[in-house]
Amino acid sequence: MDKQRPIGVFDSGIGGLSVLKQFIRYLPQEDYIYLGDTGRVPYGNKSTDTVRRYSRECAEFLMSKDVKLIVIACNTASSLALETVKEISNVPVIGMIGPAVSAAIRETSNGNIGIIGTRATVSSNSYNEAIKQLDKKSETEVFSKACPLFVPIAEEGWTSHPAARMIAEEYLDEFKAAEVDTLVLGCTHYPLLKQLISEVLPGVTLIDSGEHASVTALRVLAEQGVLVEENPELVSDPHIDFYVTDVASTFFEIARRFLGFEVDSPQIIQLGNQ
Ligand code: DGL
Repeated sequence: MDKQRPIGVFDSGIGGLSVLKQFIRYLPQEDYIYLGDTGRVPYGNKSTDTVRRYSRECAEFLMSKDVKLIVIACNTASSLALETVKEISNVPVIGMIGPAVSAAIRETSNGNIGIIGTRATVSSNSYNEAIKQLDKKSETEVFSKACPLFVPIAEEGWTSHPAARMIAEEYLDEFKAAEVDTLVLGCTHYPLLKQLISEVLPGVTLIDSGEHASVTALRVLAEQGVLVEENPELVSDPHIDFYVTDVASTFFEIARRFLGFEVDSPQIIQLGNQ
């Protein structure tokens, strides 16, 4: 396989840029194709069948671009459609759940792990199942909670707004009572709220799914012999092609907030019978 082929990343919308940010941090020498299904976002309150169909269409688009790896940046799609995407993919597929769960099991001292995500992610039980599979001795206890209001808060940039603090306390207080010492940020938007969450839950280790998925990708690409090695003499900005299914007026502002730098104009595509 040709090393120079890009890594394909897809998400329900712009939030997955928080994952792309981590990939660029750990794999700066790679090229990327980012697809945000902005015309059909959110996935977090859709049915399993719909999320699977949308995810299949996103993966098919990335395969048509000849990517060497597919990253499902969206935690909802990773929870509901990882197998669906793997079935149709001719390249390795990395979702957000496995890498985050391995990290949480490694990090916890008292075995009490918290999971936060969209309604669809939490009700899929994907994290609980993954923890059960990895933690054979059943030494962990899992507490999960859907935090849907964190998505608009992150998009608005209200990361230190008093209203955001009240909502965070309302959602997260129960993790204090459960003595959770490790919390998985199981949604693309939550890394933007790290500071706020750690103020509400001081001392709790926060697991950024995108960060751990990047490390997994590094290993998978190296195993396949298609990792582009870092070359200190060739430091340049990563090449990213952006595709979306709609461009809202707030696209550029939100994209900058999630990625940390200005994005180029995306190409608009149509998926399925959108
Ligand atoms: N990207 C989604 C996730 O990580 C959040 C936004 C949505 O509901 O589509 O679960």
